Amino acid sequence: MKPTDVPSIQHSARQVAIQVVTNILLQQGSLSTQLARHQHDVASEHIPLLKELCFGVCRQYPLLNSIALHLLNHPFEEKDMDLYAALLIGLYQLGYMNTPDHAAVNETVEACRLLNKDWATKLINAVLRRYQREADDIIEALEAMPSVEYNQPKWLVKRFKKHWPEQLEQIIEASNTHPPMCIRINESQVSRETYKIQLAEQGIESQDGVLSPSALYLRSAVRVNELPDFDDGFSSVQDESAQLAAHILAPEIGERVLDACAAPGGKTGHLLEFAAAKENAEQTLDLTAVELEPWRLEKIEANLERIGLMANLQCADAGDLDAWWDGIQFDKILLDVPCSATGVIRRNPDIKINRKPAEIDELTSIQKNIVDQVWKTLKPGGYLLYATCSLMPEENEQQVAAFLATHDDAIEKPLNSLNSELDISLGLPVSHGHQLFPTVKGNDGFYYCLIQKVIA
Ligand SMILES: C[S@@+](CC[C@H](N)C(=O)[O-])C[C@H]1O[C@@H](n2cnc3c(N)ncnc32)[C@H](O)[C@@H]1O
Repeated sequence: MKPTDVPSIQHSARQVAIQVVTNILLQQGSLSTQLARHQHDVASEHIPLLKELCFGVCRQYPLLNSIALHLLNHPFEEKDMDLYAALLIGLYQLGYMNTPDHAAVNETVEACRLLNKDWATKLINAVLRRYQREADDIIEALEAMPSVEYNQPKWLVKRFKKHWPEQLEQIIEASNTHPPMCIRINESQVSRETYKIQLAEQGIESQDGVLSPSALYLRSAVRVNELPDFDDGFSSVQDESAQLAAHILAPEIGERVLDACAAPGGKTGHLLEFAAAKENAEQTLDLTAVELEPWRLEKIEANLERIGLMANLQCADAGDLDAWWDGIQFDKILLDVPCSATGVIRRNPDIKINRKPAEIDELTSIQKNIVDQVWKTLKPGGYLLYATCSLMPEENEQQVAAFLATHDDAIEKPLNSLNSELDISLGLPVSHGHQLFPTVKGNDGFYYCLIQKVIA
């Protein structure tokens, strides 16, 4: 089935959620892309409900999918994926929301009519009513399935168990929760202590991050326009692990720096802020940011405009040097490669639906090509920080091991080599680099390894 676009604004949150979830089930794009495209099809006051339905269904998908398949005699065909999306949303409402049960059932049945699939109303009604009556028994019957026990795809549970048996519980628990709201303080404008006071004056309670000196966790999430001087770039929403990149690379004014896979520009902005804060200067860093996707490059532009700092933006494949590189080598490179995002499932819960094991192999070969090429743009004596938000060793320590084995001019360095103030006890030191695991109330899962190009 082709995804049909919702034709006009002011559809109900449920109708638009059905559209978004259908497109995700049909692998038509990520949750964030789909929401960006469709959220304006509902009135603004219904956007939170739309998000709750879509994020909720993705977050609970392994469980909801098992329940739905258990209750249906035959799975729906691809052309009826919209009905399946409606059913999952109905089950989510019954299981996780305060919607009265009869309303959840009736509205889902009505949704089938709006989809012009009246033939399915009886079936959907019967399935939801049975779940309503027998929920506990059904869940008990399914509990032994790994996808239900862990609420994660079976293949992913298998990999987590294999690679991280000791951290399994933590990974699963953190990956299934809502992430906390973490902000980065722009230290070139204001100190963390002062900003914390400003937040408190507005009734927003916050707590220092433990890994990144620029991180504050908010006790409850707020809209960004409630954050003091947000429009002037005094703070940005960014996970604490992600904030470590700039603290590890510690760029200085006068250095030529590359951010090779840059969008949406969270780390680009931080690299610029970091240098400006240290030098307290009017000048900014000589920073080149490369991004493959034009629409994502626009996000970097918007981010930099808000914080009032500048970079040389290039829309290109970072691995295709002819397309963007002027031949002058860089002092420092941040390589935050595209990855499986298995450390940030809680922020991208559609991974539970769409990510396939074969993609890990594809991603590792994309990463290999980018790092091999970008390495040529680094000065002898310069540093490259390899980063992912993945928990898969193939994308992380094994990728670095293969790189070091084939590059005589590369040596691994401790993560605090460029910044002695950085606490080195980050996550778990692995064979190469450090693996950070997601924590329920704190940081996302991440991986960092710092590599220096030796002077011949
Ligand atoms: C993990 S995200 C980067 C996040 C970013 N560093 C930040 O902190 O906001 C990876 C980015 O790399 C981009 N990308 C993928 N392949 C690329 C390539 N060959 N060259 C450049 N960018 C690429 C993706 O579009 C995506 O925006």
